[in-house]
Amino acid sequence: MREFWDKRAAEDPFYFVDNRQRYRHPDQALFFSRGKHELDELLGAVGARLQAVDDVVELGCGVGRMTRLLARRARTVRALDVSPRMLALARTHAGLENVEYLLGDGVSLTGIADASADACISHVVFQHIPDPRITLGYVREIGRVLRQGGWAAFQVSNDRGLHRRRTGVEGLGIRARAMLGRGPRGQADPCWLGSSVELGELRAAAGDGGMEVERTAGEGTQFCYVLTRRVR
Ligand SMILES: C[S@@+](CC[C@H](N)C(=O)[O-])C[C@H]1O[C@@H](n2cnc3c(N)ncnc32)[C@H](O)[C@@H]1O
Repeated sequence: MREFWDKRAAEDPFYFVDNRQRYRHPDQALFFSRGKHELDELLGAVGARLQAVDDVVELGCGVGRMTRLLARRARTVRALDVSPRMLALARTHAGLENVEYLLGDGVSLTGIADASADACISHVVFQHIPDPRITLGYVREIGRVLRQGGWAAFQVSNDRGLHRRRTGVEGLGIRARAMLGRGPRGQADPCWLGSSVELGELRAAAGDGGMEVERTAGEGTQFCYVLTRRVR
């Protein structure tokens, strides 16, 4: 996962964070305004609200389009990503003294102490993880790092059909554009295609982490938003 995302960060980080961007022609104003919209949509969908005293963990921070906002809304942010290149880009945002950037191992929140966070946020990260067991492991980890009463708001894909490799003429076209340098690479890689998660399994993993699933929105779609809370 690290190698894949480092390559994508070198290729076009803005496109690979938000693939509605024009490949290799980023519109940064639009990119960051969509980041705000998506963060507010995630929090609004599950009714979560950050407090100025909160210590937040952001899982899969990418180039930091949400980290900047979280830093303004919370006390501290620990922004974790598997890709050193993505983290290097995130670090270029000025004036975020309350943010600590962490290089993750791709499967856990190692480096973040037990019961040290009030909130955890993750958007368009789990949908790219090739094996749902890794996502479920992360859910258990989220429970570990949350304080009692702390919450997590995150997006998972619940759409089983979405993660298939494109075949036939469609797949050929994608591969040809990538080979000619006119389109994004890595589109058939398991680290891009990702996987969906079953809500029953997610509830069980949340329980293993001492959490309950309090709310979900968008079940059955790519944008399934989940609110969990550490209850024990
Ligand atoms: C599509 S980007 C989203 C970035 C950010 N959440 C946002 O919405 O702006 C996905 C990010 O997740 C990171 N990522 C992918 N797999 C990961 C993993 N297993 N553990 C941690 N980060 C991962 C990638 O390096 C990339 O920065």
